[in-house]
Amino acid sequence: MRILVTGGSGYIGSHTTLQLVASGHEVVIADNFSRSKPSVIGRLDSLSGASIEHHVIDLTDREETDRLFAQGAFDAVIHFAGLKAVGESVALPLEYYSNNLGSTLSLLTAMRANGVKKLVFSSSATVYGEHAPVPMQEGFPTSANNPYGWTKVMQEQILRDVAAAHPEMRIALLRYFNPVGAHQSGMIGEDPQGVPNNLMPLLAQIAVGRRDLLRLYGKDYNTPDGTARRDYLHVEDLAAGHIAALDRLEKTEESVSTWNLGTGTPTSVLEMVSAFAEASGREIPIVDAPRRPGDIADSYADPAKAQAELGWVASRTIHDMCTDTWRWQSQNPDGFPDA
Ligand code: NAD
Ligand code: UD1
Repeated sequence: MRILVTGGSGYIGSHTTLQLVASGHEVVIADNFSRSKPSVIGRLDSLSGASIEHHVIDLTDREETDRLFAQGAFDAVIHFAGLKAVGESVALPLEYYSNNLGSTLSLLTAMRANGVKKLVFSSSATVYGEHAPVPMQEGFPTSANNPYGWTKVMQEQILRDVAAAHPEMRIALLRYFNPVGAHQSGMIGEDPQGVPNNLMPLLAQIAVGRRDLLRLYGKDYNTPDGTARRDYLHVEDLAAGHIAALDRLEKTEESVSTWNLGTGTPTSVLEMVSAFAEASGREIPIVDAPRRPGDIADSYADPAKAQAELGWVASRTIHDMCTDTWRWQSQNPDGFPDA
């Protein structure tokens, strides 16, 4: 298939692009490089051995998006593009709603106008909200407690409404748990701009000497060691989930399908810190801090639906996730080069 990958130079999009090319698909990347560096593209070319077509466009621009589709002849779209930092979304709600909803609306409009029916959408476990029991199942109600989370809840709703009106569409809502890790080559990985919000890039930057210490957000959770637990999954497993979802969209009769992508196994903050210290051979200094607003004690997937319907299982271990992240960070202490 000829597949448009929006946000293809970002963290998850870049890993998925490589697996798509390796599976024989032709990939076209659309990204405005607002949260990624152009130098990612060169690395993707050398890792894939292909020259990957890419377009620098802002997907909220309807005319540009229409032009891309008019020339594109796409068979499917994987839509990663978006802004994703929770704290920033609280400070900049309009930017988050405009960018995340706007890009999805222009994409859907262009897809409809050009007869493109298959879409895989990057959703998030954040849509289960603050009060969901664990393990989390696809049938649970959705909610959010910050603008970023609401953009995911709203985009899911928009996609369900479009699927209801156009039953020939085939849409996958993939709810990612906590993607971490990097490509085995160490040439691509997560490269957040500014101070990272998430645990794994912080651990990597502390280990490599870019930051001093980790603030441990809460030790009084109702969990075995008192620190919050998450369902970390390797970005390569996550990328494989997209290929499995695309395959499934070829066969399913359902116009919209939702799948959790997670391992189903929770890991605490302290367990992650010690796994990363072991994998990197570096000390990770920690200091106790209050709970982070909006955090929940436990978040992990029930991955049974994805396993049954996609034949997909996230099999890489926490050790693999830490080792691969460390290879990427130690080979690229400052992330991707600017040019
Ligand atoms: P990322 O920031 O690395 O990649 C997103 C890419 O989208 C960037 O390259 C950015 O430049 C691009 N982009 C943003 N707005 C754009 C626009 N208007 N037009 C064109 N390009 C635009 O993020 P990621 O971690 O790869 O996440 C990909 C998707 O998965 C996002 O939608 C994110 O919300 C979702 N998600 C991520 C996580 C996670 O922990 N990484 C978890 C759940 C869901
Ligand atoms: C974050 C997002 C969530 C998103 C998810 C996956 C917030 C509030 N939530 O949540 O919307 O879906 O990433 O991308 O940002 N931790 C520390 N110290 C730190 C950083 C993190 O102790 O400096 C702890 C957190 O309190 C949490 C765990 O590490 O218990 C994991 O944090 P993080 O990587 O940010 O993921 P989520 O909490 O799942």
